[in-house]
Amino acid sequence: MKLFVSEGNPHCLKAVAALEVTGVKCDVQYVSHEERVVPYLNRPALPALLLPSGVHLFSTNAICRYLFEVNGQEPSSLCNQWLEWEATDLQPTVLQALHLAVLQGKGAEASKLLQAPLSYLEQSLSKGKTPYLTGEAVSVADVVVWAALYPFMSDSSLALGEWKCVKTWFDRGALMHSFQSAAQKVLQGKGLQGMKSYMQRQPAPQSSQSRETAPCNSSPAECAQAEESERAVSEEEMEAAALTWSKGLTSGPSPHQRQHPVLPQEGKRNVLVTSALPYVNNVPHLGNIIGCVLSADVFCRYGRVRGWNLLFVCGTDEYGTATENKAREEGLTPQQICDKYHAVHSSIYQWFQIDFDFFGRTTTEKQTEIAQDIFWRLHKHGFLVEDTVEQLRCENCQRFLADRFVEGTCPYCSYPEARGDQCDKCGRLINAVELREPQCKVCRQTPVIRSSKHLFLDLPKLETQLENWLDKSTGAGDWTANAKQITRSWLRDGLKPRCITRDLKWGTPVPHADFKDKVFYVWFDAPIGYLSITANYTDEWEKWWKNPNQVELYNFMAKDNVPFHSVVFPCSLLGAQDNYTLVNHLVATEYLNYEDTKFSKSRGVGVFGDMAKDTGIPSDVWRFYLLYVRPEGQDSAFSWADMATKNNSELLNNLGNFINRAGMFVTKFFEGCVPQMELLQEDKKLLAVVGWELQQYIQLMDKVKIRDALKHILNISRHGNQYIQVNEPWKRIKGGDADRQRAGTVTGVSVNVACLLSVMLFPYMPTVSQTIRDQLNAPQSVVSSALQGGGTFACALRAGHRIGTVSPLFQKLETDQIEALKKRFGGQQPEDEPPKRKKTTATAANAQAAAVPAPSAAAATATAEAATANQVDPERAKQLTQAVAEQGEKVRALKAQKAAKDVVTAEVAKLLDLKKQLALAEGKSPEPAPQKGKKK
Ligand code: MF3
Ligand code: ZN
Repeated sequence: MKLFVSEGNPHCLKAVAALEVTGVKCDVQYVSHEERVVPYLNRPALPALLLPSGVHLFSTNAICRYLFEVNGQEPSSLCNQWLEWEATDLQPTVLQALHLAVLQGKGAEASKLLQAPLSYLEQSLSKGKTPYLTGEAVSVADVVVWAALYPFMSDSSLALGEWKCVKTWFDRGALMHSFQSAAQKVLQGKGLQGMKSYMQRQPAPQSSQSRETAPCNSSPAECAQAEESERAVSEEEMEAAALTWSKGLTSGPSPHQRQHPVLPQEGKRNVLVTSALPYVNNVPHLGNIIGCVLSADVFCRYGRVRGWNLLFVCGTDEYGTATENKAREEGLTPQQICDKYHAVHSSIYQWFQIDFDFFGRTTTEKQTEIAQDIFWRLHKHGFLVEDTVEQLRCENCQRFLADRFVEGTCPYCSYPEARGDQCDKCGRLINAVELREPQCKVCRQTPVIRSSKHLFLDLPKLETQLENWLDKSTGAGDWTANAKQITRSWLRDGLKPRCITRDLKWGTPVPHADFKDKVFYVWFDAPIGYLSITANYTDEWEKWWKNPNQVELYNFMAKDNVPFHSVVFPCSLLGAQDNYTLVNHLVATEYLNYEDTKFSKSRGVGVFGDMAKDTGIPSDVWRFYLLYVRPEGQDSAFSWADMATKNNSELLNNLGNFINRAGMFVTKFFEGCVPQMELLQEDKKLLAVVGWELQQYIQLMDKVKIRDALKHILNISRHGNQYIQVNEPWKRIKGGDADRQRAGTVTGVSVNVACLLSVMLFPYMPTVSQTIRDQLNAPQSVVSSALQGGGTFACALRAGHRIGTVSPLFQKLETDQIEALKKRFGGQQPEDEPPKRKKTTATAANAQAAAVPAPSAAAATATAEAATANQVDPERAKQLTQAVAEQGEKVRALKAQKAAKDVVTAEVAKLLDLKKQLALAEGKSPEPAPQKGKKK
């Protein structure tokens, strides 16, 4: 027996340590890192163990296990579990940490990465109460985990933190002669630095963590390759995969037939999913669609296939000034506007195949009933406070004015066109009542000051309760990083009372006699829409909404909605004290840009929901691309050119090509019947690789990492294509019996991979998924059985199964077609656009925040909150986004007119200032915006 190792190779440290601990007799030969000791591998694989039989083992943990087995120590199942953890969890992190510490000198970052596995180890050791991982004696598990951590644990310059049990356990090993000797032999006592030459030869590791926080610019193909080179499939994995495969699909529960109303059931995982209620007065654009309804739909489709008992509700957000304005613009009543646009939204979501259980609206009797009930409960429990607020009122228009409905002279810098909330010249925030010579923006009359009593939700009084709940929810649930961060920044400066009433007509009436001409502020009212919409779906709505112990609630939204769902609405529900179901998982996306700019209705830039279907590109392809660029963890951009590339490379050449080839082989070579399969190593390896990708997919989907999970689907078809390419069934089918048999196996395995892909695709591309299953004539039950019980890759289409008619799934997107679409939807640089005249009426985006009463000294409203620098304020951010866009247009117009330089400079300065304020309102540091073209 001979063990091949190289100096400074962290994997070799394990093998040598296992050899030392077991004392098995074996030659050790030191070779260079590049030495190819395993003759049939075309890459170096060290350590490698040459067995007396001539067989090579080259998976590190398999070598270690073997050495222990030779020594008479069969690994226990606990031991195997540790080996598995080491290989799949610890090892990737260790390699990444080594890369940081050894090559980049980033010890602190390396140690940060290691915290998660160390914490897991600490917990297990403290629970286990034995000196070693699996009992009283050293096992192979101790050897591999110990050796993996050795470079870090033995380096005192790394601050790894206080892990008491880990330290005791590690030191116990470090004192043993065998461990000492192994470390000396492989690292020559040089610790981390002893690995430098090895690490320099390794590709930079890519972990899912780093991909989440740092933009991944490499294509998924590259990512897959990087992962593959890290992951050698062990013999054990292959055998296990083959066994699972051969068992076939267990005839699991019959395909999920939904019975309405879906209600929580004892003993089931009851999942309630909402996506933010879209404003009714607008046609949603692609960014809106991916931000909430589409993301939620993918998760719901996945959840249902997983066998969860799941309810997905959504609807239009119909109250507020935005609707009133739109009604005025279109010469309709608010009710007519709501009816019209509710239908527009419904049909767009239907086209995008959003499978709501119920799509309702907020302007219903149930809404009034439930909102008023919550109001009275808050009132009864003393969580509402009254205050008098001074406001401007236009007697001519018969309404209170705020923010953008009034203009006047800035009290600070005397700029004559300051708005009710802010001066564009000096950038200061203003209370409308402070404006000199105010004018109603609609009719230009002079408004009067009126004071009016309002009700405020006493957030400070609810703060402790809120924080206790937040600790629990964010600790146990899956909150996206931005959701946690935005929430934290709201809490950091302490909460202030929030005004929940407005002097408007179009809203839920405040039932209190002292406030009888007022309605609820939309952001108090709208989230209650989730409850009322469910109530319109079923009378038993309380089984979902007053059942926190049995129900898990997921809220999907874009990040500007976070504070209302994590702070304000939970406070309303906590204060109302009726055992409400509060959010467990808050899933917020970042923003989707359009090409190099933002979607803008007023500038006519971007693709809006109703236009997508006019492009001739199928709904599934739209879904695919939006999900592929889902702004998950960072902003991303929709780009026509990229959409064409992804369609042509990923859908057509990769996924579609694989599925089509697999089906065509069955049709052409085997008369449409799945052939007999005799699995060889090669096939088992594919099964193991596919099984692993499936597991990754499931883990990511469970954590709502929808975009990341999609990449694993594409990895599978990539592996599949490679497998077909290497095995060339089209050649072997013409050969002798053995070759024909081989062609049969490869075809049979491939067509089963295609069948699995149809299931994994179901949440993303429901129509394509069904088409594949139709083509393969696959039983409907494969959908649920493949993913239920954690997901396994089993043979679903047995030998003899007759498939249907196979045809291509995707079409190429041609360059000229894409160019034409790009032109049509205004993908050009904003600078190239003809400037439009500044609008005088407020647009929908900012109108929602309009008519915020100006605060009196005692109670603060949104305006005052926004004045606290660096507080995330989505309402304000929306207003500012609009202001930035308008100011940008002004600058462009001036430039186009070749206006005097100092005039332009002054306007540019204003623009920069607005951008700075926008950054603050979004909770970002106000750095200058990246230059165009350098944008990531
Ligand atoms: N209409 C809001 C928006 O589009 C979202 C409201 S979510 C709700 O930003 F829960 F408050 F309804
Ligand atoms: Zn007026």
